[in-house]
This record gives sequence, C-alpha cells and structure tokens, in this order.
Amino acid sequence: MSSKKDSGNLSVMPPPKHIAIIMDGNGRWAKSRHLPRSRGHQKGVQTVRKIVKHCAKLGVNTLTLFAFSSENMKRSRDEVGLLFKLFLSVLKTETGKLKDNNIRLKIIGDLSVFTPEIIALAQEAEASLQSNTGLTLVIAANYGGQWDITESAKKIAIDVSNGALDPDNINAALFNQYTALSGLPEVDLLIRTSGEVRLSNFLLWDLAYSEFYFSKTLWPDFNEQSLDDAILDFHSRDRRFGERNGEE
Ligand code: IPE
Ligand code: IPE
Ligand code: MG
Repeated sequence: MSSKKDSGNLSVMPPPKHIAIIMDGNGRWAKSRHLPRSRGHQKGVQTVRKIVKHCAKLGVNTLTLFAFSSENMKRSRDEVGLLFKLFLSVLKTETGKLKDNNIRLKIIGDLSVFTPEIIALAQEAEASLQSNTGLTLVIAANYGGQWDITESAKKIAIDVSNGALDPDNINAALFNQYTALSGLPEVDLLIRTSGEVRLSNFLLWDLAYSEFYFSKTLWPDFNEQSLDDAILDFHSRDRRFGERNGEE
C-alpha cells in the first residue's frame, strides 16, 4: 500500500471496524508524579471517556477495552478493592452518558468475582443500552484469553454431550460462535500502551490476524491524537491474510 503514516487523512479513510486496547501504564503514570496508584487509575478512566467518545465520532463499530485481567486479581487487596470500586462508580455514572451517545455495552470476563451490586448494575447497563445502534463498547473485566477459550470449549463439550452438536461440525467458524466476542466484527487493530510488548492473556483467539500497535505513551496520557496516530499507522499496513495479491 502506498499511504504513508504522516500523509494519511483520517477523515477520508474508513476507520478500523474493531479496535481493541490494552490500557496499560496507570501505575507508572502515578509513580512518576509521586502519586498513589489509585490516582493513575482515576486518570485512566478520564482517558477511557475521551477514547470512547472519539471512537464513536470516527464511526468505529466496536471498541474492546482491557480494564482488568484475570491475573490482576493477584494484586494487593487494596488495589483490587479500588479497581472494583472504580468499576462500580463508572457503571453508575457513565451508563446515562453512553445512552445519550447511542453506545451499546457488552461486558466480557468471569464476572463471578465481582460483588452482587456490580453484577446487577453491569447487567442493567447492558440491557438498558441494548437497543442503541452506534458504537459497541466491550469492557473486558476479570477477563483472560485462556479463560475465554476454555469456556468456549466447555460449552462445546456440553452441546456435544447432549447431542445438540456433531463433533464433525466443529471448525473455526463454529468455535468463534462460542467465544466472548461472538457476533462482533473481527479485531482489526490491537493497541497496547506503556511500551510493554506482550498480550498479557488478552484476546488470544480473536487476535489471530489483527494488526498490532505498541505505543510508549502511558494510558493516562493517551489521547485522541494518539489514537489517530495508531489508526494512520494501521492504514499503512499491507494486510495480506496469507495471500499474495496480484504478485507473481
Ligand atoms: C493498567 O495499568 C491498569 C490495570 C492493569 C488495571 P497498570 O496498573 O498495569 O499500570 P503499570 O503497568 O503498573 O504502570
Ligand atoms: C494487562 O496489563 C491488563 C490490563 C491492562 C487490564 P498488566 O499490567 O496487568 O500486564 P503485565 O503484568 O504487564 O503483563
Ligand atoms: Mg501494567
């Protein structure tokens, strides 16, 4: 492809349909300012607001945000408690705003670790936004890619054992229907902030052919321009999906 990173014009390019983001670096952002980690997480929520709004404006179909990994449960009780509290307060304060902005919400992950209040609010929020037609916002909470694949395998095994599914019909397309992101477009672009270059057990199944973009910017400093830079870079990629289009 001929388009170059700096010469692209976002307004004339269709945005990636599905962007997934590993929002990393809240702790380091706070540490560099001699602030408690909690302040980094609070500032991170402000970035979430900005990026969700910007994706809706750009016409992105789906935005999946890694908010809390299954491994993050291993952090201190204080930090996990704080992250749960933040999740609860965001559900309380943001659902109305999502409604006003025609945004749908889907929460993926093993929700069983959360308090009944969080689980109920999450379900209410999803239901109240279900008929919206704009951006689909997916929040991955206590999510792990290996958990997602294992859960899918479990559900498939149940369907096979009760006769609803013939093992001969199990293929990638069918498996996909059992995963947490089933029914949503394939992930085009995966962004990870803060300079770490790993997946940390995020969407293992869904990233099979996604483009990866690693930014050194810490999540609380990530902004609309940072996302535009990632999307421009995405447009400069030659996505071949294993084919050699038009080449000898
Ligand atoms: C990402 O920021 C937010 C969560 C994982 C919940 P971190 O808390 O991982 O921040 P760093 O990586 O320590 O800077
Ligand atoms: C991944 O970040 C999880 C989220 C951003 C929610 P971590 O900071 O937990 O990952 P590691 O520990 O660097 O692999
Ligand atoms: Mg981190």
